[in-house]
Amino acid sequence: MLQCKKIILGISGGIAAYKVPELIRQLLAKNAEVRVVATKNALQFVTPVTLQTLSRNKITSEVFEPVSNFNVEHVSNADWADCMLVAPATANIIGKFANGIADDALSTAFLAFDKPVFIAPAMNDKMYEHPVVQRNIRQLQAIDIQFIEPAYGELACGTSGKGRMEEPENIVDFLEEALF
Ligand SMILES: Cc1cc2nc3c(=O)[nH]c(=O)nc-3n(C[C@H](O)[C@H](O)[C@H](O)COP(=O)(O)O)c2cc1C
Repeated sequence: MLQCKKIILGISGGIAAYKVPELIRQLLAKNAEVRVVATKNALQFVTPVTLQTLSRNKITSEVFEPVSNFNVEHVSNADWADCMLVAPATANIIGKFANGIADDALSTAFLAFDKPVFIAPAMNDKMYEHPVVQRNIRQLQAIDIQFIEPAYGELACGTSGKGRMEEPENIVDFLEEALF
C-alpha cells in the first residue's frame, strides 16, 4: 500500500517525460493525490493540459505566478505533501539539487521540502556515468534522498546503456516498498 498519499511530482526536461502521464495515472490508482511542479523544459516534452487533466490539479512551473490565493506556491505545496518524487530527473536538476541552486519552480520546491524525496534519473548513459553526475547523486544520497536507478536499454539518442527512466509501475513499487 502506498503510504505517501499527497505527492509533489517534479518533472524535468528529459525525453522520459512522455511516461509521466502513465505514472500519474498509476499514482492516482493507488489513491494518491498529485500536484505537478514542472521545469519549463519539461513542458517541451509533455503539455500542461495533459498534466493538469490527469492529475486533476493545477500545475506549477513558474516561481513568479499571478497570485490566485495569496499562497507562496513552493511553500504551500511543501506543507501539503507527504513526499516528493522527481521523474524524470535530468542531469541538470540533479546538479541543482546537489548544489542548493533554486532558480526555478522545481529546484525551489526541493529546497523548501523536508520530507522524503525520491529521484528517478533519466539521461544518456555517458551523462549518467559522468563523474560529476555520480558525485552529485552521492551527495544527495548522503542526505537521505532516495534514487530509483535507471534501467539498461535503448536510449532516445539511439544507443543502448544505463540511463532509461524506470517504468512507472516499478517507480510506484519502489515508493510502496520504501515507505512501507
Ligand atoms: C530531445 C531532447 C532530449 C533530452 N533528454 C534528456 C534526458 O533524458 N536527460 C537529461 O538529463 N537531459 C536531457 N536533455 C537535455 C535537457 O533538456 C537540458 O539539460 C535542460 O537544460 C534540462 O532542463 P531542466 O533540468 O530545467 O528541465 C534533452 C534535450 C533534448 C533536446
